[in-house]
Amino acid sequence: MPQHRFIVCSYTKSLSLGTVSWQSPSNIALVKYWGKYGEQMPMNASVSFTLKNCNTKTSLSFEKKDTEGFDFEVYLDGKREVSFEPKIKKFFERVEVYLPFLNNFKFKIETTNSFPHSSGIASSASGMSALALCLMDMERQMQPEIPDDYFVEKASFLARLGSGSACRSIEGPLIVWGEHHEVDGSSNLFGTKYPFGVHQNFKNYQDTILLVDKGEKQVSSTLGHDLMLDHPFAEQRFRQAKENLSKLIPVFKKGDLSEFIKIVESEALSLHAMMMTSRPYFILMKPNTLQIINHIWKFREETGSNICFTLDAGANVHVLYPEIEKETVLHFIKKELSKFCKNEEFIEDEAGLGAEKILD
Ligand code: PMV
Repeated sequence: MPQHRFIVCSYTKSLSLGTVSWQSPSNIALVKYWGKYGEQMPMNASVSFTLKNCNTKTSLSFEKKDTEGFDFEVYLDGKREVSFEPKIKKFFERVEVYLPFLNNFKFKIETTNSFPHSSGIASSASGMSALALCLMDMERQMQPEIPDDYFVEKASFLARLGSGSACRSIEGPLIVWGEHHEVDGSSNLFGTKYPFGVHQNFKNYQDTILLVDKGEKQVSSTLGHDLMLDHPFAEQRFRQAKENLSKLIPVFKKGDLSEFIKIVESEALSLHAMMMTSRPYFILMKPNTLQIINHIWKFREETGSNICFTLDAGANVHVLYPEIEKETVLHFIKKELSKFCKNEEFIEDEAGLGAEKILD
């Protein structure tokens, strides 16, 4: 089994006390992952832009202990957050076989997000990847000779076991997750850097996130993924995603923005179509989500802009556009789209290079 190489039997150094800190970004999928099997394996390959400004900073303090079992506390913005602890416990149980030291330490996990907690922006991708990197940092202190590529792959592998899409947040700017016959090195176990040429048009691609609905998610992505198991359109959807990733390869290479728009918007709507046609069915878009989409289409038709949208599992709209259009599109967003956001709020972001260690 390929994941066996992430199992460690012994370490060369021991640790007793310390703190490690990492900052990890969110990511936005262009070809979506929706449907999983086994232990967090994707039913189709996906590709995403890693973001830059939406991120989680996590500090992991550890102290050696002699008692059995996991011992940890989670803090969000300095306050104990017991509601996060069942998810972390499940994560620890899943990754214990790959990080045998988890039982030997008492942990304090302190985390802050650069975006408002209730913004509807998934903090699981940035949060789980930041935690996975902190744990890998500890592992590297106990086994200093582990190579950099192993460090990155195992961090992505562990992040995936916390939240699937988190495995695409370790590096950037374009990450593929899931085996795809045209992408060498692609794996269901971890994200890998998109290996082909990318035209200047896609450099520093902009993503302005319009906060339409800031509430808690109505339907968890875990439930959504499960509903793909006996979904009537599952096979067609997985085939479509695979084809869309193939189609993006020449699009990225040539800088073909009009084809990019067609693929990306169709992917977003297909994701939501899956939600609307599952049993039980549900709708995560809000009336203002549709208002924004229609205004984007109108603006594109009238001005010839290369603006487009994508959605994740919620009502917020990610507005994507080339860096060269930044001024005009931001002007349009402020004038025409911000009124559809809760408190007129939006977040300016762009493609970034992935996680970073925070030094004291
Ligand atoms: O990582 P999860 O299990 O929260 O799933 C995320 C799924 C989408 O955001 C809807 C799509 C994707 O590929 O990120």
